[in-house]
Amino acid sequence: MHVPPNSREKVTINTLQAKKEHREVITMLTAYDYPTAQALDRADVDAILVGDSLGMVVLGYRNTLSVTMEDMLHHCKAVSRGVRRCHLVGDMPFMSYQVSTPEAVRNAGRFLQEAGMDAVKLEGGREVAASIEATVTAGIPVMGHLGLTPQSVHKLGGLKVQATSAEAARRLLEDALILERAGCYAVVLEAIPERVAELISKRLNIPTIGIGAGAHCDGQVLVTHDLLGLFDRFTPKFAKQYANLQSQMMQAFRDYVADVTSHRFPSAEHCYPIREEELRALLESLEEQTVPPTA
Ligand code: KIV
Repeated sequence: MHVPPNSREKVTINTLQAKKEHREVITMLTAYDYPTAQALDRADVDAILVGDSLGMVVLGYRNTLSVTMEDMLHHCKAVSRGVRRCHLVGDMPFMSYQVSTPEAVRNAGRFLQEAGMDAVKLEGGREVAASIEATVTAGIPVMGHLGLTPQSVHKLGGLKVQATSAEAARRLLEDALILERAGCYAVVLEAIPERVAELISKRLNIPTIGIGAGAHCDGQVLVTHDLLGLFDRFTPKFAKQYANLQSQMMQAFRDYVADVTSHRFPSAEHCYPIREEELRALLESLEEQTVPPTA
């Protein structure tokens, strides 16, 4: 299956697999709300990840650990309302899949059944393989996530580059192969050396989607708030800023305050008129009627 660029057909897991086979790069970005999802859909991005980065870039938490199933489902629903074409991936939050396989399958199912997602993503390697297998068996496509896995921030000792030793890189490759065997249709590789990501991308039959993993992955993903310059508390080395909406937003707010305080806004074009005779009738009736009617 060859997918022409700008096709308005729905992007599925088969489309992404075909892109890998035809060496066409997969594009993915995050979204957490309806207008952003609409813009990404119209911009012909292949896939939208409703990431648990939501916790940091939208909800203001220090890391992703506080994000709940209810937070994720709420934002996934908003995103799915804005999308006709993009492949939609819902990120399973911390503690929604780590406790037991049945819980993982049940929570994964909610992303498809209640929130309109096409697939789920979860973090980890061999330790989550059984849950991935059961989830895929239940008919739910699963995207894996290896390398820097932010839900393990405390175990990793911070948000930092992974798989920099031969031993760690070998273990990561093994994990990637395990995820493929467990049934994942794609794997995110985050913050690992470019050559390690290249090796994994060549060994896997399923697509790899990199973030801070260099140019040789089968696809790329970024956090949209990093790309738009909407989040300045933490800027990873791999993020590329395409706009600075934070400063544009601030300027717009300052302009509004200046307009309101100097009475330039609202002006006539923003006001609703009333016909002259209606106004006159109103004023006359008010002059006649000195005591307000009782109910
Ligand atoms: O939550 C997220 O946005 C992610 C991406 C960084 C891949 O997992």
